[in-house]
Amino acid sequence: MLVLRELRASDRPALERLIRSTNAFREDEVEVALELIDASSDPAKGYLLVVAADVDAAQGRDEPVGYACWGLTPLTDGAYDLYWIVVDHAQQGRGIGRKLLEHVRTDVRARHGRLVIIETSGKPDYAYQRAFYERCGGTLLARYPDFYRLGDDKLVYLVRP
Ligand SMILES: CC(C)(COP(=O)(O)OP(=O)(O)OC[C@H]1O[C@@H](n2cnc3c(N)ncnc32)[C@H](O)[C@@H]1OP(=O)(O)O)[C@@H](O)C(=O)NCCC(=O)NCCS
Repeated sequence: MLVLRELRASDRPALERLIRSTNAFREDEVEVALELIDASSDPAKGYLLVVAADVDAAQGRDEPVGYACWGLTPLTDGAYDLYWIVVDHAQQGRGIGRKLLEHVRTDVRARHGRLVIIETSGKPDYAYQRAFYERCGGTLLARYPDFYRLGDDKLVYLVRP
């Protein structure tokens, strides 16, 4: 059964494994993803994180299969950034990413947030991520040509909470 739950300290190795399983991130991006996971355990830092876990209570199984990390954008009144959303490579395409994003929207709504901003890459191999945001109701707001590096634009999506 898929359960959305809070982060536990013991989740870190499993979350690192699933980040790496996607082959979507360079090593420096993996390091930043892990820094945000570590920062999420300190509420004062303002990072929010939800874990999607495959749970079978009878068998004592509780395995993280995805997570999302978001937070209030500093110096804004109700704008939130979705910093990271990851689903284990072997579990993609089964609706887990959509459930995580829905959880983020619900949480932002409960905090009276007005919008969720998602930044992603325009590279051809990020077509999957762009299709995901568009299928989940995201609107493409802006494209910054060659932002990340030459030939790698930054795309900004808006999702309403
Ligand atoms: C992006 C990601 C989070 C999506 O999670 P997921 O669990 O695979 O997505 P879902 O199964 O919930 O799909 C949700 C919707 O997106 C659509 N979608 C997913 N992949 C798609 C693809 N390749 N082409 C078209 N649509 C796609 C699904 O069809 C679904 O729409 P529907 O419900 O209307 O049919 C996941 O693929 C991932 O972790 N990717 C690697 C990490 C990454 O790049 N994260 C984003 C940057 S931080």
